[in-house]
Amino acid sequence: MSMTVRRLTRAATAGLVAAAALTAAAHSAEAADTLGSAAAGQGRYFGTAVAANHLGEADYAATLDREFSSVTPENEMKWDATEPSRGTFSFGSADRIVDHAQSQGMDVRGHTLVWHSQLPSWVGSLGASDLRTAMNDHINGLMGHYKGEIHSWDVVNEAFQDGGSGARRSSPFQDKLGNGFIEEAFRTARAADPAAKLCYNDYNTDGVNAKSNAVYDMVKDFKSRGVPIDCVGFQSHFNSNSPVPSDYRQNLQRFADLGVDVQITELDIEGSGSAQAADYTKVVEACLAVSRCTGMTVWGVTDKYSWRSSGTPLLFDGNYSEKPAYDAVLSALGGSGDPGDPGDPGDGTPSCTATYTRTADWSSGYNGQVTITAGGEPISSWTATVTLPAQQSVSALWNGTPAWSGNVMTVRPSWNGTLAAGASTGFGFTVAKNGSDAAPAIGICTAS
Ligand code: XIL
Repeated sequence: MSMTVRRLTRAATAGLVAAAALTAAAHSAEAADTLGSAAAGQGRYFGTAVAANHLGEADYAATLDREFSSVTPENEMKWDATEPSRGTFSFGSADRIVDHAQSQGMDVRGHTLVWHSQLPSWVGSLGASDLRTAMNDHINGLMGHYKGEIHSWDVVNEAFQDGGSGARRSSPFQDKLGNGFIEEAFRTARAADPAAKLCYNDYNTDGVNAKSNAVYDMVKDFKSRGVPIDCVGFQSHFNSNSPVPSDYRQNLQRFADLGVDVQITELDIEGSGSAQAADYTKVVEACLAVSRCTGMTVWGVTDKYSWRSSGTPLLFDGNYSEKPAYDAVLSALGGSGDPGDPGDPGDGTPSCTATYTRTADWSSGYNGQVTITAGGEPISSWTATVTLPAQQSVSALWNGTPAWSGNVMTVRPSWNGTLAAGASTGFGFTVAKNGSDAAPAIGICTAS
């Protein structure tokens, strides 16, 4: 199918969508705030990365549609997905996400046009002049297909090295075209879709450091020479080795002062409970304190599909329950929860979430650990269920009291029922595999 036909089809659909979004907004007037509605109250969008292959999962789609006002395709617009061989574009998965977003009145961030990773090998084998043509063709191919449908594009992603040098990262583009590839990409992008905001996006640039200084110098130079750049994306993947920097707000502000918007583009923070919630609060407060911080995107809907799932870095757990981090973000955005919504701060309803990790593994058995985290209210007791694969049996359990029904183990506290809002405890157990290495299923946590 030619690109022109796709364009017309896409544009026609967008008209219908706008009408649907208006209807939805009218109906939601009395409902509790969501991340998207609370952020809108602050003049911001609140987005998430989305994977096309989960859109068919009812809870995934329901959580996405209820909470978020912007989506970023997690992998579907990357070069390997969209132009696996030269000149052959495939937009099927990305179109599914864009169509879904439009049907819900959500905006779409484009991610990403020029990046050293998830790059098909044919790109790396081109000579300089061919590579320049291929880069521009790729930008034109994607931006043309989605013209008018993307609020911001990550035109170039991760072009700087980590560490103290502030140098550019080696890539086919850098190595063959030199520093100028970045500005060429931005100029091509501006012509391809003048309505889209054009962003440079990177990680470990969230605080003031040598890498962010190098990006800062580039943006300053672009602004002084009229190279078209509108925004800088701060990925904001945080964990204990890479915590939320204390000068996060200050760093966002100095970029904004160059005359670009700033966006938090791939936020996730490993951890759980009140500590994780406090870190999320810092990030949201930093964005809200910078008037040119136009929105935030978390890098996934649910912990279970996170690229760092073992770090449980997102706002919804694997059962799509709101975590303390969710409540913290909602309240930092000035939103209020639904009185009937378990876990929202101050709702008076005890709630908890349960997350599972395998903490040890050997040929005939493993140890599992379930972490119980109280929601927005203190709790005095909790109950979690663990359903074991049929062959497996539990030989020991600690920090909990089990009751059995077939292969379903219901665990209540032993000494550790009382938890402050957002605080965590947990129980552990040893399993005999008896030939099955499958993971147990953890049921919904209930609290009183
Ligand atoms: C990640 C995706 O989340 C994974 O599913 C994929 O396997 C690798 O890429 N910086 C980026 C994102 O700009 O595109 C990356 O996304 C995470 C780091």
